[in-house]
Amino acid sequence: MLISDRLSNIKPSGVRRIFDLARQMKDPINLSIGEPDFDIPEPLKEEGIEWIRKGFNKYTPTQGIPELREKIASHLKKKGIHFDEVMVTAGVTGGLLLASLALINPGDEVIIPDPYFVMYEYQVLLMGGVPVFVDTYPDFRLREEEFVKKISKKTKFIIINSPNNPTGAIYPEEDLEMVVRIARERDLLILSDDIYDSFVFDEPSCPCIGQLYEKTLTFGGFSKGWAMTGWRLGYVAGPKEILQQMITLQQYTFSSVNSFAQKAALKALDFNMEDYIKQYKRKRDLIYEGLREKFQVQKPRGAFYIFPEVPGRNGDAFVERAIQNNLFVVPGSVFSKRNTHVRISFAASEETLLRGIEVLNRIG
Ligand SMILES: Cc1ncc(COP(=O)(O)O)c(C=O)c1O
Repeated sequence: MLISDRLSNIKPSGVRRIFDLARQMKDPINLSIGEPDFDIPEPLKEEGIEWIRKGFNKYTPTQGIPELREKIASHLKKKGIHFDEVMVTAGVTGGLLLASLALINPGDEVIIPDPYFVMYEYQVLLMGGVPVFVDTYPDFRLREEEFVKKISKKTKFIIINSPNNPTGAIYPEEDLEMVVRIARERDLLILSDDIYDSFVFDEPSCPCIGQLYEKTLTFGGFSKGWAMTGWRLGYVAGPKEILQQMITLQQYTFSSVNSFAQKAALKALDFNMEDYIKQYKRKRDLIYEGLREKFQVQKPRGAFYIFPEVPGRNGDAFVERAIQNNLFVVPGSVFSKRNTHVRISFAASEETLLRGIEVLNRIG
């Protein structure tokens, strides 16, 4: 066999399939997209361009340029996150891959609250690990009895993503405290994917695991908050013994990350994105108000997704109907072991959202 056994459980992401379909249609109402609809703010683009012109185009240190690591460290300290080491990665994706490589042995189990960001499942499978899902329906809360049922001697770590893709939920502090208590009792590591931590609509900030527990790997990045998805920049902070291994692995995988983006990111961390977030709160209100009569739906408190249950409780069939009406949303089955919901991204213009809401109500 030409292809490695490692890939036997791996299939292309369902989100990509919807993207590809949307690209072929004329003027689709595309509410399937997982990135902001605004561009990188001009001064940050200028900063990147200036560093390219200055010739800052070579390899950078494997763990990231020192000034950015320091800046990220002080940003995380201000948030009260526990860590002893920071590294810069090729997006949160790159950080997650390094963590999976560093931590998962074949047969190890990884606890993932369901619904979940699809990459977690596949990165675990890629390492020969076993994803174990903890149900959070219908209100997307973390429940002790669900965790206790699923944790075993083989559990290696727990992944928490809040604000959450695909639900838009922010787990309340009491839920996070419960997970930390469970982890502490068993000396388990927690991976906390905080990539949407600037998209918080109803309070100044959201609680995160890294504030509550020392044995946390905190992942953050510049893709969502500053719309730098194509610049591929993120970071990981956590215990030294793990970070050191991840830095060694970065040498042999990515080597180092994007040079000029690191310089622009330095500036980004001081750049106020409040106005952008306010616009996203308006979009959140628009879509929630537009759907709540016809759909069973939780109000998203963060990120830029809403995850309603669809009438008939068949997400795949609903998405087929939506596509026939020129609307692209993603079936919940891409993010879950259930197929009862759909993920709608509200990272779109208000005009597109209004067109989408009209179709959703018509076919719902
Ligand atoms: C929860 C979550 N984590 C990580 C990522 C990937 O982020 P990055 O662009 O930093 O690799 C995404 C992107 O959609 C995401 O939704």
